[in-house]
Order: sequence, then C-alpha cells, then structure tokens
Amino acid sequence: MTKILIAYESRKGETTAIATYLAEGARMAGAQVDLKNIKEIKNESELSGYDALVLGSPTYHADMMNGMKTFLFLAEKADLAGKTGGAFGAYGWSGESIDRIYDTMKNILQMTMVTEPLRLKSSKAGGGISMAQDYGKLIVEKANS
Ligand SMILES: Cc1cc2nc3c(=O)[nH]c(=O)nc-3n(C[C@H](O)[C@H](O)[C@H](O)COP(=O)(O)O)c2cc1C
Repeated sequence: MTKILIAYESRKGETTAIATYLAEGARMAGAQVDLKNIKEIKNESELSGYDALVLGSPTYHADMMNGMKTFLFLAEKADLAGKTGGAFGAYGWSGESIDRIYDTMKNILQMTMVTEPLRLKSSKAGGGISMAQDYGKLIVEKANS
C-alpha cells in the first residue's frame, strides 16, 4: 500500500485543517496516511519508509514558520531523492512559504514534485475542502505512477 506522510506546522489552525482534508483525500485514494505536526518528528529516521512526503506551513511576515525551516534541515539528512513531494499552506495575501517549501523539496531534497503546490487562504471558503482533498488524491496518483 502507498504510504504518505503529511507533516505540517500551524499557528492558528488553518494549515492544520487543510492538512486534515488533504489526508482525507489521500485515504480516499487508497493510501495509508500518517498526519503529523512537525513538532512530533525528532529524527530523520522517522521520514523513511514513505512513498510521498507532503509539507505545509502558513506564511507569516513573508516567510515559513521557524519550525518548518528546522524541519527542512532534518529532511536534508533523510534520503528523499526521487520520492513524491507536495507542499501546501494557508496564507492571507502573498503566501511565500508555500513556494519556498515546494522549491526546497524540489532543489535540495531532489524530490519528484507534483506540478504545483496547494495554495489556500482557508479550507472553509471557495471550495477549499475539495481542493485539499483533490491534492491528496493527486499525491497518491503521482506516487503510484
Ligand atoms: C502577524 C501576521 C503576519 C502575516 N503575514 C503574512 C504574509 O506575509 N503573507 C501572507 O500571505 N499572509 C500573512 N499572514 C496571514 C496568515 O498566513 C493567515 O492568517 C493564515 O491563515 C494563518 O495560517 P495558520 O492558521 O495555519 O497559522 C499573516 C498573519 C499575521 C497574524
């Protein structure tokens, strides 16, 4: 069975909600999903054994949260090259963190990324729930291809 890790950071809960719907979509597509706040992950060995990794952080002050920066250094120590990747996050108006996470996964971790990151202002508006679920399904399709 395809195994996916969704790891996120959130201050006010929007990115947590998006992560939850993304996990729902990936499970609907038949994957086994671990959904974790990055605070729970202490060692790079906890990133092994997955077919895909999806990372999320909201944008504050045009940047990702500090925990996600530290997490990306941890991920650099895990051998993730060639694994499927995706990135997401809640944002207010500019959403820099989402593209930075996506670009780091692509250029430093050498992951095989889905075409685009998932940028959502909120899961509650504008079809956000189904967009997050669809992103989860897309990750599974890419990991299976
Ligand atoms: C002090 C502060 C700074 C923010 N800076 C940005 C920003 O630079 N760009 C942006 O797109 N959103 C910014 N936001 C909006 C947050 O990204 C948005 O509220 C998001 O939903 C928070 O996600 P979370 O609930 O997962 O923490 C900022 C919010 C606050 C309170």
